[in-house]
Amino acid sequence: MPKIIFQHPEFEEMEIYAPAGSHRKTVLELAREYKVPIHFDCGDGECGSCVIHVTDADGGPTHMGVHMTDKEKTVLQELGKLTRAELEKVIVNDMPSEWRLACQMIVRDEDIRITYESA
Ligand code: FES
Repeated sequence: MPKIIFQHPEFEEMEIYAPAGSHRKTVLELAREYKVPIHFDCGDGECGSCVIHVTDADGGPTHMGVHMTDKEKTVLQELGKLTRAELEKVIVNDMPSEWRLACQMIVRDEDIRITYESA
């Protein structure tokens, strides 16, 4: 059961344990279940309002994560969170970026720390 730590500059840190079967749920769905106030508008990977920064629980790079869709990569590039060089690294290493969209990212069996700024 992976631990997810939600962090916001103005709120107290919140720690949840993603329940079994949550591997089909997005970070945004889990956040809403646990009343973590990540702001979102479209809920469908179009607007970028739910952008989050993701590391492992200790602040290092994550090693797992569902791959990014083309839609997510495009929105993150438009937001300036993913440069062309970083995008190439993502593709070559087959690993997701540290910036994700909460409505698109699905949690795997890894403890992670999620920082969000819009609430
Ligand atoms: S809510 Fe619009 S991209 Fe996630």
